[in-house]
Amino acid sequence: MPIRTVGIIGLGLMGQGIATCLLAHGFEVIGLDTDKAKFRATQLHVARELKELNKQLGLAPKILATWKQRLHRAEGYADLASCELVLECVREDLALKRSIFAELEQAVPQTTIIASNTSSLPITLLQQGRLAPGRYLGMHWGEPAQIMRYLEIIPGKQTKAAIVTAAKRFGIACGKEPAVLKQDIRGFLSNRLMYAMMREAFHLVESGIADIETVDQSFRNDIGWWALLAGPFRWMDLTGIPAYAAVMEGLLPELSTGTEVPKLMKRVVRSKALGVANAKGFYPYTPASAKRWEQDWVQFTYEVRKLAERYTPTA
Ligand SMILES: NC(=O)c1ccc[n+]([C@@H]2O[C@H](COP(=O)([O-])OP(=O)(O)OC[C@H]3O[C@@H](n4cnc5c(N)ncnc54)[C@H](O)[C@@H]3O)[C@@H](O)[C@H]2O)c1
Repeated sequence: MPIRTVGIIGLGLMGQGIATCLLAHGFEVIGLDTDKAKFRATQLHVARELKELNKQLGLAPKILATWKQRLHRAEGYADLASCELVLECVREDLALKRSIFAELEQAVPQTTIIASNTSSLPITLLQQGRLAPGRYLGMHWGEPAQIMRYLEIIPGKQTKAAIVTAAKRFGIACGKEPAVLKQDIRGFLSNRLMYAMMREAFHLVESGIADIETVDQSFRNDIGWWALLAGPFRWMDLTGIPAYAAVMEGLLPELSTGTEVPKLMKRVVRSKALGVANAKGFYPYTPASAKRWEQDWVQFTYEVRKLAERYTPTA
């Protein structure tokens, strides 16, 4: 069954971005949130972000003319009954997600695909005790969801192959380049790669090899330079494979294998730093400089999207 109407449970940071992405690609969206104010916030967010999307990348006039009629508010689970797909986007809490699935299952047909945007919970665990567990899977979105091409699709042990295929097709229709995993694993792909890198970054700083700024500088100017065009394997192809094998022999035994949250991280969290959100992070900020970083990040993602489309087109 083609996906035309998508339910979103949880209209927070991710839910609002995903709603924007879906409306920009012509889907009907039905949003459900226990906080009544979130639907209005979503309308405002979508209006602002679609305007920007149109300015930066261009949108069909029909999309702009119809999005308001395609965004609906759900008063309860019964209003999600017409959805071919429901995306769960509430906070990372296993018990909460499970209670939502239990209610949702009673309201939608067993053909409705149910996806969780969980960042870390194993999909196989979410499938346990579910009605028709074969239609459950992970769809891990990136933020800003309306701009990024990132989407990871994660089957649990019980997910049916046809559901994975439908999710991939849906991701492409949303302008993504979906990465489909063969198996469920904690952290999926990009988070595992990112946390391996972050562990080493903390190790370098805590061992006094370089300060935070210098680690960031090196990362941006080397890995950051090629990572949009090539993943690690393409990069080795581009630059000559045998040298990497030789370096691995000496270097891998020296890389951090720590399993504790780094001391520096604990200290920064204890200081109540949230990052640019409260102008307090690994770097010092003023409210104005924090705002500028936020704005630069959004503008940068638009520029990067254009560059990515040029060198590694999705279509
Ligand atoms: N923030 C990110 O960058 C990011 C990226 C990828 C995945 N995720 C994952 O996406 C999920 C959502 O993250 P977020 O940052 O959008 O969270 P958030 O806290 O911003 O939003 C969650 C929303 O869910 C609503 N909610 C809570 N209980 C509910 C219920 N019973 N029914 C309906 N709505 C309910 C809240 O009112 C809130 O609006 C999490 O699992 C998170 O790990 C987050």
